[in-house]
Amino acid sequence: MPNFEPNTISELEINISQCTKCDLAKTRNLTVPGDGNYNANIMLIGEAPGSNEDKTGKPFAGRAGSLLDELLMRSGIERSKVYITNMLKCRPPSNRDPQLSEISACQPYLDLQISLVDPSVIVTLGRFSFAKFFPQVTLSESRGIVRDWKGIKILPVYHPAAALYNPSLKPKLIQDFQKITTLLAEKDNTSLSNIQTQPNTQLNLFE
Ligand code: URA
Repeated sequence: MPNFEPNTISELEINISQCTKCDLAKTRNLTVPGDGNYNANIMLIGEAPGSNEDKTGKPFAGRAGSLLDELLMRSGIERSKVYITNMLKCRPPSNRDPQLSEISACQPYLDLQISLVDPSVIVTLGRFSFAKFFPQVTLSESRGIVRDWKGIKILPVYHPAAALYNPSLKPKLIQDFQKITTLLAEKDNTSLSNIQTQPNTQLNLFE
């Protein structure tokens, strides 16, 4: 946990910049806390910084970020209006997958970001961020299906980087991103009757 409980996203970002809770602190260049509108209705959560993010300190700064921009634009959403962060705030060496211990170490930062930004919709980009909320279901069976998590609508989508390697996933991503605008339109409608509800069960990335 941070040395003190930050009251704002800016305080939290300072805290993250000083973090030494796991070994990624030894190999990172810059921390990548998150970026965007601190009062956003929509939060997007990716996996971990890559080399461009590690150099700039901004999430989704490379090719996956360009595709993310395109997906947002196609859905009529400005990047500056959303808040974007990752499960991990530091780059794993050679862009390897996040380790469970790193996810646990970083989790309090993400939890605080969620409570401070207080979004109505969270779009999880890829399997790691989806597993934070719904560890017992796979992304391939869940993508595009909205679920409720503590009153927040969770929309799981494939990671944009996956579509760079496998272009056949791009139409699915475009389709799933279109749902964000529908969800926002429903924002003031308190009925979640069309949304599947799942208990918040323990994180298990290995199932
Ligand atoms: N860039 C990020 O910031 N996060 C990812 O998950 C991938 C690329």
